[in-house]
Amino acid sequence: MPPILQIKNLSTHFETARGTVKAVDGVDLCVNEGDTLGIAGESGCGKTVLALSVMRLVPRPPGRIVSGRILFEGEDLLAFPEEEMRRIRGKRISMIFQEPMSSLNPVFRIGDQVAETLRLHEGLSSAEAHHRAVEMLRLVGIPAPETRARDYPHQMSGGMRQRVMIAMALSCRPRLMLADEPTTALDVTIQAQILELIQGLKREVGTSVVLITHDLGVIAEAAQAAAVMYAGWVVEQGPVERIFSSPLHPYTVGLMNSIPRIGRRPAGNGYLNVIPGTIPNLLELPSGCKFRDRCARVMPVCAEKKPALLEKTPGHSVRCWLYV
Ligand SMILES: Nc1ncnc2c1ncn2[C@@H]1O[C@H](COP(=O)(O)OP(=O)(O)OP(=O)(O)O)[C@@H](O)[C@H]1O
Ligand SMILES: [Mg+2]
Repeated sequence: MPPILQIKNLSTHFETARGTVKAVDGVDLCVNEGDTLGIAGESGCGKTVLALSVMRLVPRPPGRIVSGRILFEGEDLLAFPEEEMRRIRGKRISMIFQEPMSSLNPVFRIGDQVAETLRLHEGLSSAEAHHRAVEMLRLVGIPAPETRARDYPHQMSGGMRQRVMIAMALSCRPRLMLADEPTTALDVTIQAQILELIQGLKREVGTSVVLITHDLGVIAEAAQAAAVMYAGWVVEQGPVERIFSSPLHPYTVGLMNSIPRIGRRPAGNGYLNVIPGTIPNLLELPSGCKFRDRCARVMPVCAEKKPALLEKTPGHSVRCWLYV
């Protein structure tokens, strides 16, 4: 089966007062039909901008997709007129945003917001849309959905709002869902419930998922494929069991070693306590390989030339001079 999503050499830049930020810098990625692709990487490495690029929602200015192709079911999303894209968003591709509050409208009742999506994309009557909206709220585990549908976003807890977001994202049975840190802001038990929910709906609806998360445990559990990003690059991508059992890129190796174990608590946002150095400033990147100043296995060639993403075994690619 052809991949549901294929990203080829995608670059998305921001023009800032201090220079051009290459938030996404020549990214290649592939999501197979029915799979979940987990994307990991430090804060600021370009995960959200990548997802926004697929949705064609990068704020412009200052942002701009400068090159590449985003093939969704074989068609290049970047070639579509905006009007066509509006029909695709929410209907064939949907996104759960990192901050649920920013994507729910505070002045409308949540039931009406879910119903509006259905009315718009599925052409349902108001009554039908309302009925389906309540069903969706029930499906995502909101208790007493008929009553809660009349709530405004601020009347709900963070976990409940996230469920509303998922209900909206899945209400039109999209072919592809982009979930940007869907559980990071939630406590652990609710995190598990939300992930179970996404998995269940995925089985039921057949949606393919791109799951962005800081939590490698979540990727191990929920994804079939994984990609690791660093400073706008995908440095490694492959089947999840390969990435976890035999990571190739020194950065991936560092991430794997930083998974918290009993007796050791992770620093900061979960990992990187074992990778020396800090998140790179995208305006002051080293020449050649962007990771070289933090890399334990750096070689002279790393300063001279950028490595390319190369396939090492079928479906497992790495961007590192060690493997050339
Ligand atoms: N509107 C903007 N204007 C300028 N720079 C931006 C803008 N949006 C994002 N960036 C820059 O693009 C880079 C990637 O940001 P992005 O939000 O994609 O990171 P992320 O991987 O999602 O991080 P996090 O894990 O914290 O969510 C960052 O350096 C960020 O500063
Ligand atoms: Mg983000």
